[in-house]
Amino acid sequence: MRTQIAIVGSGPAGLLLGQLLSNAGIDNVIVERSAAAHVLSRIRAGVLEQGMVGLLEQAGCATRLHAEGLVHEGIEIAYDGARHRFDLKQLSGGSTVTVYGQTEVTHDLMEARAASCRTTIYEADGVALHDLDAAPFLTWRKDGATHRLDCDFIAGCDGFHGVSRQSVPAAAIQLYERVYPFGWLGLLADVPPAAPELIYARHARGFALCSMRSPTRSRYYIQTDGTQKAEAWSDDMFWDELRRRLPPEAADHVVTGPSIEKSIAQLRSFVAEPLRFGRLFLCGDAAHIVPPTGAKGLNLAASDVHYLFEGLREHFHDHSAAGLDAYSSRALARIWKAERFSWWMTSTLHTFPDLDAFGVRLQAAELDYLTHSDAAAATLAENYVGLPF
Ligand code: FAD
Ligand code: DHB
Repeated sequence: MRTQIAIVGSGPAGLLLGQLLSNAGIDNVIVERSAAAHVLSRIRAGVLEQGMVGLLEQAGCATRLHAEGLVHEGIEIAYDGARHRFDLKQLSGGSTVTVYGQTEVTHDLMEARAASCRTTIYEADGVALHDLDAAPFLTWRKDGATHRLDCDFIAGCDGFHGVSRQSVPAAAIQLYERVYPFGWLGLLADVPPAAPELIYARHARGFALCSMRSPTRSRYYIQTDGTQKAEAWSDDMFWDELRRRLPPEAADHVVTGPSIEKSIAQLRSFVAEPLRFGRLFLCGDAAHIVPPTGAKGLNLAASDVHYLFEGLREHFHDHSAAGLDAYSSRALARIWKAERFSWWMTSTLHTFPDLDAFGVRLQAAELDYLTHSDAAAATLAENYVGLPF
């Protein structure tokens, strides 16, 4: 089999890139390790920046997003028992965010892919990348046979644990990493949200976040120590702990109910540099991870896709290498700013087991500054709604 772009991974990065390429008449094949149902079952991010909404429009996959997504003009940050609202739209000069789950984004992109009649191979075992510098190709096993896909370029969109980044010689890649000593326990339930906007809450017992998926479906998170398992938390334990960490009038509005899903994610910051190795380009979580506090992971995957798609389009349509040559540096410039913001929000809103009294005072000063300075509030808003790309 031969194609122009072999895409490894059918997460949001791989599917969005595939859709943009297909619409531009550039042939592509997606090779995915898991079954489609498994890819769709993962509950992950929930907040889309305007830039990502624009890309989904460009891909022709935004009809349901516009019908069902919730446009939010503000967020709240709570600490010391009080709530502080940040008017994102006003502070950022008109930008908003849209609350629409990653599961729904993936579903819409999968539907569009099926309609585009491009090839997607699910349940591909042992995907391997070959000859990255000259004539690249993928191999994998499926249904008892080994398969081969030759291509012009490979897009490594296979997430943090994927094979693409691991196919690069260690001497050619630089890794930057910070692992935080805690995780987030997330719970999804069919109950109305506690408040119309998201609440990010700092509390001495740990961070908590009130989010949502729709007017009848809520998504909540609480900070837990890094060693805990989701199974150790009953629903009642979760609801009790969540309410303890929220200001009283927000806690009073939490409607409890049985969980649909509960899982723990370890918090990590990670960047691999560069993003190009010969004819392989890393994109999305394959190249970088942010802690979820700034709601940037999915949005950062989307901005990588934008830069990579533009580079590939220029290569095939305009016969120019400029966009592909610039991909790594353009994407990394935005990635590091999202890394900075996600690290800052994480550092400001979580409790750290080894933080000394000085550090705790700095956190308090940071929050006091944020809630009393227009400049600090504008900086928060500019980053939360997403830097331009
Ligand atoms: P992924 O979504 O990871 O997709 C990669 C795909 O590649 C997967 O389908 C995988 O099965 C496939 N794959 C992996 N290895 C191979 C292989 N060897 N061969 C072929 N295919 C392979 N972000 C937020 O903003 N907020 C959140 O609350 C949030 N929660 C998260 C919770 C978890 C548990 C995780 C893991 C991430 C979370 N994120 C969150 C981050 C966000 O979901 C990611 O940034 C986003 O999924 C990145 O998309 P991607 O397509 O780059 O990678
Ligand atoms: C959600 C996740 C986040 O990491 C975040 O910052 C905001 C919302 C969510 O899953 O809804």
